[in-house]
Amino acid sequence: ALTNIHLPIGIPLDRFIKKKQEDFPFATGELSQLLRDIALASKIVNLEIARSGLSGLEGAFGTQNVQGECQQKLDILANKCFIRALKRGGEVCALISEENEGVIDLGNTQGKYVVAMDPLDGSSNIDVNVSIGTIFSIYRRVSEVGGPVSEADLLQPGTKQVAAGYTLYGSSCMLVYTTGNGVNGFTYEPSLGEFFLSHQNIRIPDNPTYYSVNEGAYRSFGADTKAFIEYCKDRRISARYIGSLVADFHRNLLKGGIYIYPKTAAQPNGKLRLCYECNALAFIAEQAGGAASDGMNRIMEIGPEKYHQRSPFYVGTKAMVNEACGFIDLGM
Ligand code: AHG
Ligand code: MN
Ligand code: MN
Ligand code: MN
Repeated sequence: ALTNIHLPIGIPLDRFIKKKQEDFPFATGELSQLLRDIALASKIVNLEIARSGLSGLEGAFGTQNVQGECQQKLDILANKCFIRALKRGGEVCALISEENEGVIDLGNTQGKYVVAMDPLDGSSNIDVNVSIGTIFSIYRRVSEVGGPVSEADLLQPGTKQVAAGYTLYGSSCMLVYTTGNGVNGFTYEPSLGEFFLSHQNIRIPDNPTYYSVNEGAYRSFGADTKAFIEYCKDRRISARYIGSLVADFHRNLLKGGIYIYPKTAAQPNGKLRLCYECNALAFIAEQAGGAASDGMNRIMEIGPEKYHQRSPFYVGTKAMVNEACGFIDLGM
């Protein structure tokens, strides 16, 4: 009988977004449209990544971003692609991006939202066929709709995010996001050109399967980080580190564990950027029952002062994050 036949593919992302919107009778559909624009840009970036080895899109672009990092061709392409999608979509008035020093005014004066994004994350993995990602945070603007965009629009603490997520360009392409009501993951089906709900209501396991930190930098870590790493080894917790934040985060979200990018001797605030790397993942971690800290403060409560400011980052299973923070030596 047909009842024995299991249809392998579930709800498409568009349908899911629309269904969620119906839960809010006064919703106008603008945030839904914005999420669809991000999904569209993600599909294009996914395609360009997949064929980059053939199309001449591998390698460095030859410029540096404001943090002095070499921009890859795909960094530039992904940045352009998301900016264009959000400009044409019309819901976003301005955004900040890792690849641009200042605010990008999209000219959508009626747009109610602003976005902070890392268009392509995992630069060391771009050219070697290893998972990379996109990270985004969405905020309601605080300035008046119709008027000029203000700096305050883009410097809101993570607690003000209305939605956040990431796209993982991995062995399959996935989009994972939250609007503050749990976390859902969608897997891309390339021949249909759609994301489908594949990971409903993701909860991070309480059991720490993995710890993830760049141990090549061990010598430059403080005594607190070293002690925590020893503690993980004592507990025989497995180590995993890809070097793409999105991929490392995603694995630990599904399997349980902690990702750490601590401060180092050379980088007193760590490496990762609060506004467009840490906040989005912190929101998702918390919505999945996990936690995110800079070692002392809840990531989402930090009021950013600069667009590109960095923060130490401890994210994952709540008990692990609390334990890691318990090692922080306040005197250091
Ligand atoms: P991006 O490629 O957006 O500049 O980010 C790179 C980040 C992040 O993806 C990753 O977790 C981290 O750099 C890895 O840094 P290390 O090589 O120092 O471990
Ligand atoms: Mn970079
Ligand atoms: Mn990044
Ligand atoms: Mn990046």
